[in-house]
Amino acid sequence: MDFIPDPQAAADWCHEQRRKGGQIGYVPTMGALHAGHDSLVKRSVPENDLTCCSIFVNPLQFDNPADLEKYPRDLTRDLDVLEHVGCDMVFTGTLASFFPEAESLDDIPQVDPLPAIAGLEAVSRPGHLEGVQAIVERLFHTVGKCRAYFGEKDFQQTLLVKQIAAAHGDITIVVCPTVRDASGLAMSSRNQRLDSSARQLALHLVQALRAADRQWQAGERNPAAIEVTMARELRRSGIQLEYAAVRDPDHWTADTPRGPLQKARALVAARIGGVRLIDNMALGESS
Ligand code: PAF
Repeated sequence: MDFIPDPQAAADWCHEQRRKGGQIGYVPTMGALHAGHDSLVKRSVPENDLTCCSIFVNPLQFDNPADLEKYPRDLTRDLDVLEHVGCDMVFTGTLASFFPEAESLDDIPQVDPLPAIAGLEAVSRPGHLEGVQAIVERLFHTVGKCRAYFGEKDFQQTLLVKQIAAAHGDITIVVCPTVRDASGLAMSSRNQRLDSSARQLALHLVQALRAADRQWQAGERNPAAIEVTMARELRRSGIQLEYAAVRDPDHWTADTPRGPLQKARALVAARIGGVRLIDNMALGESS
């Protein structure tokens, strides 16, 4: 596996592989890899001639400096994991190398927010999705034509990257299911920061989503009614709820859509012991 700590050299590597006829699969990450990331790489490996990953903790997408500071980092372990799951190249860079035209952080060009940047994450974490958009545009520019793999846990991010890819033209987005541990907790690099009681509390997120799903399966189609159920379940647990929302995934809206819906996704965000967690579920698709 090649490790390339420079975006321009990584772009040259990708260009050279494509010149030789290789189809590239790409998994963007912020490191602190877990089974969710493994699943993206394992999906890419058989679907492409080569798989590359990036590891870059993007300061632009952190609305809170303490959160950026505490974000887990372990490059040596991450490289080992990626080599074992069949990755061919890993690249990283610095903010300056991704934005060579900017002389300082303040000069990094502002993005024109895409429509997926409305509501929920945009309200809870102002500037977060714009920061994701800014770096993903550069990451896609670095890798070029590829299939890019994203986990469904960051649902609003998947909508955003599809819009970025559409503007880019030759990137195909592959959205992969959320990987959960045996208890149902969605895999996240932030889970490392949960102690055992916080881990127990965190299970209320998936339980609220399952309650929403049961309500949908029982015939409820009014998103506002399902939101009330989820908020009740989460507030009862005592965790610090940020949102419990239902959206039409094909017609994203900042606010709760008027029902009845034909298709729905429930999304939750909460802080548990100072750790922010998100999760979501397509309603009516579980067996
Ligand atoms: O999902 C992530 O890990 C990040 O948001 C991404 C897509 C790598 C951009 O920094």
